[in-house]
Amino acid sequence: MKIDPWSSTTYQDYTRLRNEFGIEEFSEDLWKDLPKPHKLLRRGVIFGHRGFKQIHEYVKNKKPWAILTGLMPSGRMHLGHKMVIDQLIYYQSIGADINIAVADIEAFSTRGYTLDETMEYALTEYIPNYIALGLKPEKCRIYFQSKNQDVKDLAYILGKKINWSQMTATYGFNGSTNMAHVFSPLVQTGDILHVQLEKYGGNRPTLVPVGVDQDPHIRLSRDISQSHRLYNTTVTKDSKIGVFVKVDKDVEKLLDNAEKILNKLNFKKLKRITDYKAIYIQDAKKQDIAKIDETLAKTETKLGGYGFFSPGATFHRFMTGLTGEKMSSSKPESAIFLTDTPKDAKKKIMSSKTGGAVTLEEQKKHGGKPDECVVYELFLYHLIEDDKELQNIYNSCKNGKKMCGECKKYASELMEKMLLDIQEKRKTAKNKIKQYIE
Ligand code: TRP
Ligand code: SF4
Repeated sequence: MKIDPWSSTTYQDYTRLRNEFGIEEFSEDLWKDLPKPHKLLRRGVIFGHRGFKQIHEYVKNKKPWAILTGLMPSGRMHLGHKMVIDQLIYYQSIGADINIAVADIEAFSTRGYTLDETMEYALTEYIPNYIALGLKPEKCRIYFQSKNQDVKDLAYILGKKINWSQMTATYGFNGSTNMAHVFSPLVQTGDILHVQLEKYGGNRPTLVPVGVDQDPHIRLSRDISQSHRLYNTTVTKDSKIGVFVKVDKDVEKLLDNAEKILNKLNFKKLKRITDYKAIYIQDAKKQDIAKIDETLAKTETKLGGYGFFSPGATFHRFMTGLTGEKMSSSKPESAIFLTDTPKDAKKKIMSSKTGGAVTLEEQKKHGGKPDECVVYELFLYHLIEDDKELQNIYNSCKNGKKMCGECKKYASELMEKMLLDIQEKRKTAKNKIKQYIE
């Protein structure tokens, strides 16, 4: 199995995906004690993560952290895209600063849009919807990849630590892949890491909420972030904990700095071996590594490094399209768009693929299958806040008390409310765009 960020694969077996790619489970202890956990977290829609533990700790301790994500401005915005923005709004409410890339370079390179077209989509479709959905302008910036020189510079510079074999192994590029496409994962790495530059808030944990198709980019960004570090704090093969200088320039100076930091952190038994570019910390425990690493990272920019924290990520499940395949802008019947009229939406819902039985009798007798029902998915992802109400629908479907007709009607009513609300807010949103755009 290979994850391809540009294909239209649907992923079914999320557990297998997690195991195969070393994605960690988004378990209860990671979200249960966050302020008012969002429904997408509570309901297992976010099914996996990399490095979320650190984010969790920063939220709990009210320390600064950032969100960065990006969307390609191509076509119309549908419920799958809304899911990402819903998460951003939640994270904004619990203290993150929000950064959103308009991935126009990527849309240009991989989807064949012109930069003018992507600009148009961003300004008339995507950004107004972000605002209408409730994204606040405070501690929030939206920028265009093609207009942010820091992102592009970083993309170029970060490319130094990655070679062609790694790129082809990760993305399956070949001799006929256009060079802008080849470069676009580095631009995405630039997106993800630039928020840690001084100008954008400095070194801090960054969470990238995405669909699992983006995992190759996440792995690339995590790798690259660490290959540009000056220090590595780790346990050696013979179980010693040490700080190692990773570069060959200014080794003495870097060791001096590390020694100073370790003293400040109250470690007493230090053994410096300059030839190994190392300081061993005999009184450190494994649990201390994260703290040491973070403290050292924050000193790196003064020493000519970047000090990147390894970016974290969460992965959400994809919505099934109303037709049963993937929800996609290119298949309008499969998706509900935020600009659909309630009538359009109702039509799509009424003719959608449910988990109902073939006949009413049979459904009364054996019940329906909410786990395989796109209408239930609409409730779960978007339409119902109250977990008890959702549970009731689940149960009465399973035991054959609820029939698909009335269920679809209820979903259409809730959808109508939601769409009208977004429509109303979109009217004033266009005037507010300036407050968000960099
Ligand atoms: N590649 C993403 C997509 O296909 C868009 C994107 C661009 C992005 N830059 C990003 C996502 C940074 C997350 C983080 O939709
Ligand atoms: Fe889906 Fe509702 Fe039918 Fe159950 S009753 S299968 S939840 S539409």
